[in-house]
Amino acid sequence: MNPLEILMREHELVRKEVLELEEMTYSPSVNTRDFSELFRRLSRFWDMHEAKEEKLIKILNFEGYRVDFDKVYFEHGILSGHRKAIIEAINSGDEEIIKRVIKTTCGELIDVLRAHMMAEDMIFASVAWEEIGSETLQKIMLLQIIPSDDLVD
Ligand SMILES: [Fe+2]
Ligand SMILES: [Fe+2]
Repeated sequence: MNPLEILMREHELVRKEVLELEEMTYSPSVNTRDFSELFRRLSRFWDMHEAKEEKLIKILNFEGYRVDFDKVYFEHGILSGHRKAIIEAINSGDEEIIKRVIKTTCGELIDVLRAHMMAEDMIFASVAWEEIGSETLQKIMLLQIIPSDDLVD
């Protein structure tokens, strides 16, 4: 798997977890403890995923690959705002605050996250990996992008 494929595979993992998150988000009897646990795990995974993505993007950008990376950065910013709000609510430990954030911010986050991953998949698929020059490839290999097979506990 090349690094772009690794990132796309991680999207698949995130999609699976987001299905569960969505179920909780729209459940009338959500268990806030389960929600908090899943959200924290997903959030940690997402941090690692974004870090890999941004490092790779920086190199591709620097090497002149013309794809819409501004959009990726912009959306990471939006997602990070939503995640911060949800983590803050979780950290408050207040059931009502957590339920409120689930009903508002989490639904939005799920929509943005799915659209974001879909857009990224298209961007990554548009990069012709076999045409990347050897010097750039070496820089990319130094990033040592490895797949995370599961969410971190
Ligand atoms: Fe991303
Ligand atoms: Fe991504």
